Formats: sequence, structure tokens, C-alpha cells
Amino acid sequence: MESAVGIGILGAGVVGGSLVRRLTEDNDAIRAKTGLDLRIVRAAVRDLSKERDFSVPDGVLTDDPMAVIEDENVKLVVEVMGGLDPAGDLILAALEASKPVITANKELIAARGAELIAVADRNGVPFLFEAAVGGGIPIIRPLSETLAGEQIDTVMGIVNGTTNFILTRMAEDNQDFEQALKEAQQLGYAEADPTADVSGADAAAKAAILSSLAFGVWVGFESVFHEGIENLTLVDLKNAADLGYVVKLVAVAEKTPRGICTRVHPLMLPKEHPLAGIRGSTNAIFIKGPTIDELLFAGPGAGGAPTATAVLGDVIDAAREILAGAEVSPAIRFGSGEILDFAEIDTEWYLRIEVDDRPGVLAAIAHEFGANDVSIKSVWQDGEHGEATLLLITHRAAEWKQRAAVAAVGGLTSVRRVSTVMRVDSGTAGR
Ligand code: NAP
Ligand code: HSE
Repeated sequence: MESAVGIGILGAGVVGGSLVRRLTEDNDAIRAKTGLDLRIVRAAVRDLSKERDFSVPDGVLTDDPMAVIEDENVKLVVEVMGGLDPAGDLILAALEASKPVITANKELIAARGAELIAVADRNGVPFLFEAAVGGGIPIIRPLSETLAGEQIDTVMGIVNGTTNFILTRMAEDNQDFEQALKEAQQLGYAEADPTADVSGADAAAKAAILSSLAFGVWVGFESVFHEGIENLTLVDLKNAADLGYVVKLVAVAEKTPRGICTRVHPLMLPKEHPLAGIRGSTNAIFIKGPTIDELLFAGPGAGGAPTATAVLGDVIDAAREILAGAEVSPAIRFGSGEILDFAEIDTEWYLRIEVDDRPGVLAAIAHEFGANDVSIKSVWQDGEHGEATLLLITHRAAEWKQRAAVAAVGGLTSVRRVSTVMRVDSGTAGR
């Protein structure tokens, strides 16, 4: 039996434009495979005069998003405009009108996900966001449904395509940061404001979602520590490589005996780590649990086409629910749990320090680390003419102790500059 379902789309940029093309060009193939006739009824954009790389019948495009939601032929709404406002209130309006909503907006879910899921639940309609994490990689459904019975202890992932693309270009092609970022923007990987990518905020929103789904406890964006790649230099990427590491911007969600800790920061991964070989805009999510041991999901994490495929999967799912006519309840419910501050977590640090090359300098630095209860694991020194660069890797110690030690070292008169600090992976994820 074939059934038509009218679709309203909020936003027709990189992802929305790709979705429009898929729904028009692949309509026959989708119908043959699913029995669904998915029809675009309305699509909202900000600027009606902009040239588009798709075509839709006259009257479909509008600059009034509410006209999309209120159109009686729109049976489900796709939000791919991005940002918190007005996207959040538009989604609320659609859910309150009992229309299923599909979104790729991780920023919004990390900020208001618990509220939106509750509203969808109250109205008995699907609220789906497979595309919000990992672009084209199926990860939301596996975490919230397939793995619902697993006691996951760690999720560790490369979840931002733009920064992984930049780091790969810098490490492999010696390309500078700005040039690589420009290329990522041209390829449609970056957010409208790429600061969110580069600062780690985009990855932190995704980490919040992954952590919430993995542990069944709502982890908001505000409780995710994040640090970006803005301060990384070619020198540090090269030093890391010489020491047998690859630098990645990594999201970690960990269930420890003291609580759930979720964070995003650059991490030096041993070359043999499963995430170390993930290159370019590819994303990968590594999950550890007692019965599944280790799972690795990898694939295109950004870009219009793969992300639109994930959105399309949710559209098909929601359209089936509409036609089945049943009330839908969310796949996951959130309980309470302790959230552990990142400062309490033990980490291992790499430091690059510029110092005076004279007697007693190394001893003074070692003293400050010792006084702050941080043990030094390895030291390398290079330099001449009274100036030297020290590379240090510490043993694992609480973040707050590492920070205090580095502040004390930075205050020594013989220390010209603490140029870089970066965390080092000191074992398997989930330790
Ligand atoms: P984009 O290219 O900037 O597209 C945004 C679209 O929304 C544009 O069509 C814009 O209209 C429209 N829009 C924005 N504000 C509007 C408003 N107030 N009223 C009506 N229309 C409005 O963004 P994108 O890259 O497609 O990203 C969309 C969402 O997908 C974001 O939440 C993003 O985080 C998420 N996402 C993106 C990717 C990716 O690789 N790009 C991957 C996964 C998830 P105009 O075209 O007229 O400007
Ligand atoms: N800007 C994001 C990225 C898009 O680079 O990964 C996918 O969410």
C-alpha cells in the first residue's frame, strides 16, 4: 500500500538543500523501497532571493517558518535551520500541534533536549535527531535502542568533522590552520559560525547528547568541559608524532564510581588507538561496555549529503509512525545521577615549555610538579645559546593538580613561557 506524507522543512541550506534534492530526485526509489510517497509541502528559508541548487514548485518556499508548521498538509516537520532561536520555539510549536519533528540541531538538543523530548512524549509524537551526532553515522538509534540493555561505561569519539579535517591537514600536509578551516567551510562541514567547531563547543553539544543517551541521565551542555584546537601548532603536532602519538579533538563520556564525566579537548592518542587513524572529516564513536566489549562506529561526520541521509532515515521512521496512527513514547527515559566535575578526573599531560638553559632550571620545574603532587614521567630537552625547549609528559594526576602545577611552573623566573599543554591518552578508553 502506498501512502503520501506531507513534509515541511525549516531551513534549506547545506543539509536542508541536500534533503530537498534527495526527496525530489530519489522519490521513486524511496517509494519503491518503503511504500512511502514523501512530498515536500513547504520549506522555509531566510532569504527568498538567494539562488538555490535545487528546484521546487512555486509556492513551496517561504520566509515564514510558522507557515510551514501551520500548513494543514504538513504532517511532519524537519528542522535544519540550526541555532537556538527561533528553532527551539518552532519545534515546540510543531510538537504541540502533534506533528512529529526531526532535527539535526545538536546545539538545541544539548540545551533543551530534555524539555523537547518531554513535550514530544506528552503529545505522543516522535522527536528524532539521528543526524545531530556523527552526521551520516547511525549512532543515536544504536545507543538509545539497540544498546539500551548494555551498562555502557565509556563513549569516546571524534565527533566534529571540521576540526578533524583541520588537524589531519595540519599533521599530514603541513597546512596552516586558517587555510584548512577555509577548505572545511567550502566543503560544507563547518557550522554557520565556525567558532563552535574550532572551540570544541559543537563537539561538546554532541558529547552531552551521547553521554545522556549512554547513561540515561540528562547531561546538559553546561556540564561538559570543552577546550578547542585554536592553540595547537604545527610544532606540537610534529612533536606528538615524533613521540608516537596522533592529536585528535576527542569527546569522552565516562561513567566513574564518583559520577558521569563528559568532556571535549585535544588528546594525544597512541598511534595504535582505534581513533588515531580516523582522518579528514570522518567521525568515529568508540563505545565500551561489559558485554559488547568495544564497538566502533565510523563514517562521514559532516557535509550535506551524508547528514541528509540520516535525516531522511528519521523522516521515513516518523512517516511510518504517522501512518500506523499509534501514540509514540520516547525510546529513552532519563533518571538521576551524579555529574562529576572534570577537575576531579585524573589525566596525563604533555607540556612544551621555553626556559633559560642554565643550572637548576630543570630542578626548579621538577620541584613545582612535586609540590603539587604531580609526578613527571618523561622529559626531553633541546636548545642552545642559553635558551631551551623542554617537552614533558606527566603521570596521571587530578586535573586540578596538573593545572596548579603548570601555573606554578609558569611563575618561575627561569621559565620564559609554557607554550602548550595537552592531555595524553594513557590507556584504553573507560579505564
Ligand atoms: P546552513 O547551511 O547555514 O542552512 C541554514 C538554513 O536555514 C538556510 O537555508 C537558512 O536560510 C535557513 N534559516 C536560518 N535561519 C532562518 C530563519 N530564522 N527563518 C527561516 N530560515 C532560516 O546550515 P546547515 O549546515 O545546513 O546546518 C543546519 C543544521 O544541521 C544545524 O543545526 C547544524 O548544526 C546541523 N548539521 C549540519 C551538518 C553539516 O555538515 N553542515 C551536519 C550535521 C548537522 P537561507 O538559505 O536563506 O540563508
Ligand atoms: N560542523 C559540524 C562538524 C557538522 O564539522 O562536524 C556536523 O555536525
